[in-house]
Amino acid sequence: MQTHEIRDRFTQHFVNAGHEAVPSASLILDDPTLLFVNAGMVPFKPYFLGQQNPPFANNKATSIQKCVRTLDIEEVGITTRHNTFFQMAGNFSFGQYFKEGAIELAWTLLTNPVDKGGFGLDPERLWVTVFLDDDEAAEIWEKKIGVPAERIQRLGMEDNFWSMGIPGPCGPCSEIYYDRGPEHGKEGGPIADDNRYMEIWNLVFMESIRGEGDKKGNFEIVGELPKKNIDTGLGVERLACILQNVDNVYETDLLRPVIEAAERLTGSTYGKDQQSDIRFRVIADHSRTAMMIILDGVTPSNEGRGYILRRLMRRIVRSARLLGSEGETLSTFMNTIMDTMTPSFPEIAEHRERILRVAVAEEKAFLKTLESGTRRFDETAATVRGSGASVVPGDKAFELHDTYGFPIDLTLEMAAEAGLSVDMDAFEAEMDAQRQRAKADNKAKKHRNLDESLYREWVDNQPTEFVGFTQLEHDANVIGLVRDGQKVGEASAGDEVEVILDVTPMYAEAGGQLADRGQIVVGDTVLSVYDVQKVGNKKLWIHKATVDTGGLEVGQTVRAEVDAPWRHGARQAHTATHLIHAALRQVLGPTAVQAGSMNKPGYLRFDFNYTDALAPEQLDQIAMITNQAVDADFAVNTIETTLEQAKAMGAMALFGENYGDEVRVVEIGGPFSMELCGGTHVEHSSQIGPVAILGESSVGSGARRIEAYSGLDSFQYFSKEAAIANLLAGEMKAPTEDLPDRIAQLTERLRAAEKEIENLRKKELLNATGELVNNAETIGEFKVLVVTLPDGTAGGDMRTIATDLKGRFGTEKAVIAVVSNNGGKVPFAVAATKPAVESGIKAGELVGLLGQYLGGKGGGKPDLAQGSGNDASGIDAAFSALRDDIANR
Ligand code: SER
Repeated sequence: MQTHEIRDRFTQHFVNAGHEAVPSASLILDDPTLLFVNAGMVPFKPYFLGQQNPPFANNKATSIQKCVRTLDIEEVGITTRHNTFFQMAGNFSFGQYFKEGAIELAWTLLTNPVDKGGFGLDPERLWVTVFLDDDEAAEIWEKKIGVPAERIQRLGMEDNFWSMGIPGPCGPCSEIYYDRGPEHGKEGGPIADDNRYMEIWNLVFMESIRGEGDKKGNFEIVGELPKKNIDTGLGVERLACILQNVDNVYETDLLRPVIEAAERLTGSTYGKDQQSDIRFRVIADHSRTAMMIILDGVTPSNEGRGYILRRLMRRIVRSARLLGSEGETLSTFMNTIMDTMTPSFPEIAEHRERILRVAVAEEKAFLKTLESGTRRFDETAATVRGSGASVVPGDKAFELHDTYGFPIDLTLEMAAEAGLSVDMDAFEAEMDAQRQRAKADNKAKKHRNLDESLYREWVDNQPTEFVGFTQLEHDANVIGLVRDGQKVGEASAGDEVEVILDVTPMYAEAGGQLADRGQIVVGDTVLSVYDVQKVGNKKLWIHKATVDTGGLEVGQTVRAEVDAPWRHGARQAHTATHLIHAALRQVLGPTAVQAGSMNKPGYLRFDFNYTDALAPEQLDQIAMITNQAVDADFAVNTIETTLEQAKAMGAMALFGENYGDEVRVVEIGGPFSMELCGGTHVEHSSQIGPVAILGESSVGSGARRIEAYSGLDSFQYFSKEAAIANLLAGEMKAPTEDLPDRIAQLTERLRAAEKEIENLRKKELLNATGELVNNAETIGEFKVLVVTLPDGTAGGDMRTIATDLKGRFGTEKAVIAVVSNNGGKVPFAVAATKPAVESGIKAGELVGLLGQYLGGKGGGKPDLAQGSGNDASGIDAAFSALRDDIANR
C-alpha cells in the first residue's frame, strides 16, 4: 500500500467517526520552545490547555502532521526506524471519548480488512504496552478488544508517560507494536526487542500538566487539564514499512527512489556493505527533511533552524562523495524526493523552483568550503609532518569542523590518507566545551517559556484590548504589575516594571514592526514605556517601562499614550516595507519570497530568499517603482476577513507564519500590494515621503537583505550624500558627475605607483643582500650563509630574499638561512640549492630547528621553507644550532 493511500485511509476512518480533518500545520510554529513541530498534537496545544476552545465540530479532529526530530540524527540509517522527517497521523478528542474510544478506534483501523477500509494487520502480531498502574487501559485491551494478557506489557514513566519534554500537557500512554518476525530480533515483546517489535501507534490519555524537568519522567505533575483528552500518533512511515514489507523506513515508496538516484550518481550499489548502506539511507532521509524544511520557508544559516538545514545538506553532500560522486548531486536528490512527496503534499509543486535554488546554492557553497577546508587540512598536515609528528592536534580538527564545516569523519579519513592520526581526546574536549556553551544558550531560551506561566491568569481572564489602530491615547486600568519576574502590587520611582493594562493603544512588536514607545501617566506619576510585547498566544500586552516619577498601584486608572512622532515614523517605515516588497516582486518575479523584515521609525530592512546578488540596475528599478508608488498617493486600506478569503483575494502571506482564522489584509493601490499584516500603516502612500534604498547584501546563503530609510531620514541621507559629493568635487576640482571616472583614474595611478615603489624596494634589498654571498661559510661539503636582515623586513620578503640568494650559488651545495626582527615577530626562512637537497638537506626540517630557538614553528618543502617566531634573542643560538646540524652530517 502506497504511503498516500495510508494517509487517505487514516483520515477517512476518523472522518467517518465524526472527526474534522485538519490540514498539517507548518513545520515552523510560533512557539519559542520548539525549533520544529515534533508531534501531531503541537498545533492543538492551546485546546488541550483550555486556553482556546477547539473550533471543530464535535470537538474531535484528525490530522497528518509534518514532524521533524533531529536529536537522533546520528542514528539515521543505523537503526531501521529513525527518520528525521516523518508524518504523524493522529486523532484528537477534546473532552469527548477517552481511553476506551481511542483504543477501539485504533484497533479497528489497524485490523479491519483492506476491503473494509482498514490496514488489514494480523491481530496475532500486535502487542501493546500500558503505563505501570493503568489497570483501566490494560483491562480495555484484554476484555473489550481481546488482546491476550501475555501480549500486554507494562512500562514506566520513561516509556509510557508522554509529554512534550517541557512543561505542558501530558498523560499516561498506551503503545501498539507490530511483531516483524524472528528474523528481526529476539522474542519477548516490545520490552525485549524494540527492533523486532516496531512501535507504530502511541495513544496518549492527556489529562495532566507537568512542570520543569527532563523527558525521562523526572518532573512533577503540577495540575490537571480542564478536560480529559485524547492525543494519538501513528507513524505513517513505520506503517508503510510494514505494509510494503520492506526491511526499514528508508526503503519505502517515498525514499527508495532517492536511494536509486544515489546509486546512479555515485556508481555504488545499495545492499552490499553496511557502511555504504548507512550513507545511502542518510542521503534519502536527509534529502526529504531538507526539502520539507525549505518548503516551509527555512534557508540555510549558522544558527537555529537554518543550521539544522545546513547540517542536513552537508551530510548529504558528504555521503554522496564518500559513495563516489564527484560533482553536484543535490538537484537530483531534491527533484526525486519532490516527485515522491508531491502526491501527499501537492503544495510542493508551486515551490519546486525555489527549493531547488536554495539547495543548489548551498551545495555549491559547501563544495567550495570543502575545497578551502581541504587546503587548510593540507597546510595542517604539512606542519605536523614538518615538525616530525604524526598526530593532527585536536584544536585543528575542531577548527576544521567549526570553521570549515568538516564533519570529523571527513578529517579522520583525510588524516588516514595522509598517514596521520587525529588527537580525538583533545577534539572531543573542544566539542564538549562547545556543547556546554550551547546548553547554556538553551537554558537561557527555556527561561522565556517558564515566564509565560506568570501571565496565565491574565491571559485567560483579562486579555488586552488593542485600540491603537485608531487611537493614540486611551484610559486604562492597571490589571497587574511584574517586577523582577514576580507579580507585585505596586511600583515606585526608579523601578523597572512590566505593566498589564486592560486596554492599550500601544502597538506590541509583531510582524517585523518594532513596539511603540510611549508613556503611562496618572497625576504626577509618569512611566516611560520602552518596549511592548505580546504573550499567551498574543492575547496579553506587556508594557515594559521605567517609573520616572511617582508610583503606581494595581487597580489604578491611568492614561496610556503612544509617542506620536514615533508611531508616525513606524507607520511610514512599515508601509514603505510593503511597497519595497511589491516592487521587488515586480523586478525579480514571484520566487523572491519574503524571509523576514524589521521596521522602526525612519528605517527598514527586508530579507528575502534569492540566491544571486542584485545588479545595480535592479536595485535602481526597485527604488524607482517604490518611489513612484509613493508619488501615486495610493490609498492604504485594511480589510478584516478570513484566511481563506484573503488567500482568494491574492494576499501574500509570510510562509511559515501561523495565522489565525481571522486575518487582516493591508491593500495599497488595489493590485499594487496586498499582504496579510497586523501592523500600523499610513493612510495614503504619499505620507511615507521619499524612500532611500541604502543597498543590498547577503544574509547567509540563499537570502538577501535590502535596507532603506523612509520619510525625513531619507531626506537627511540624501542631503548628507550630496554634501559628501560636493566636498569631493571641491577637493578634486571636478563636477560631481565626473567624480566616478576621476576617482577610478586616481586609484589606478596610485596602484601603479605603489607597485613601482614595491619593486624598487625589493631591488634595493636584493642589491644589498647580493653582496652577502661573500659571507658564506664552508661547513663540511656545504656552503652555509646565515643572514640577519635589517629590522623590519617582513615575512613576505623572506622567501624572495632566500630564493634570490639561493640562485646566486648556482650548482654549489648551499644552505641559506635568513631571519629578521619585525616589531616583535621574528620571521625566518631556509633555502637549499638542488645539489644540497640531493645531499640530504631538508629546508623544512631546518626551519623546524630554527623555530625551537626563535619561539615559533614553520614548514615547507625541502628546497624552501619558512616560519615565524617571537623571540629575537634566540637568533644567535638558532644559527649555531643550524651550523652544528650541518657540520654533523
Ligand atoms: N503526542 C504523542 C507522540 O508524539 C502521540 O501523538 O507520540
